[in-house]
Amino acid sequence: MTAEPLERFLDRRARLAAAGPDEASPILRTARESDLPELRRLDREVFQEVAYPGFLFRQLYDMYAGHFLVLDDGTGTLRGYVLAGTSALDRDSWILGLCVAPDRRRHGLGRELMTEILVRLRRSGVERVRLTVEPGNSAAILLYRSLGFRPEGPHGGLRRDYFGPGMHRRVLRLDLTAAR
Ligand SMILES: CC(C)(COP(=O)(O)OP(=O)(O)OC[C@H]1O[C@@H](n2cnc3c(N)ncnc32)[C@H](O)[C@@H]1OP(=O)(O)O)[C@@H](O)C(=O)NCCC(=O)NCCS
Repeated sequence: MTAEPLERFLDRRARLAAAGPDEASPILRTARESDLPELRRLDREVFQEVAYPGFLFRQLYDMYAGHFLVLDDGTGTLRGYVLAGTSALDRDSWILGLCVAPDRRRHGLGRELMTEILVRLRRSGVERVRLTVEPGNSAAILLYRSLGFRPEGPHGGLRRDYFGPGMHRRVLRLDLTAAR
């Protein structure tokens, strides 16, 4: 990951400040066990029929709590999360979930979640981060590319039927060691 240029950082701060008192910037923190019901609600709101089943969310939390970050608006409502699964054996990591509540998008929160998780992954000794994204999800692809992710493999990282028939994905990759 390359360092965030100062002007981009200042622009983001200005946009967050412009969000107004009703949309005060949520606090970014590590997920807690007590967040699980609210995380499921948010996940279902954003991902609908492809949301994680509750039992899987629970076990992902058990395995990867240190790399499970949430945006907490201070009233018990979560506005976003990012989850990374890591492998101690080969220093690999996958972003397993990223979302921001629909009414809080375009205020820099997705970038904030991704930037912080990449900092934590690097600190944990992770060398490579991968993720999959729906080929038509240009908002997410632009975010990932701006953070240094690049397609893995030919055809822009396109993997047909990756999640089953008709469920194509692009695989993107960021090398944390090269980006130091
Ligand atoms: C992808 C997502 C997390 C981005 O969150 P966000 O808080 O709106 O993103 P940010 O405001 O931090 O924007 C970061 C960058 O993403 C890109 N981006 C985000 N939304 C965009 C949009 N609607 N159109 C074009 N670019 C967009 C831009 O490059 C933006 O940088 P910029 O503000 O300097 O132009 C959010 O749209 C989301 O939750 N989508 C649904 C779930 C999802 O698709 N998750 C990813 C699965 S792989």
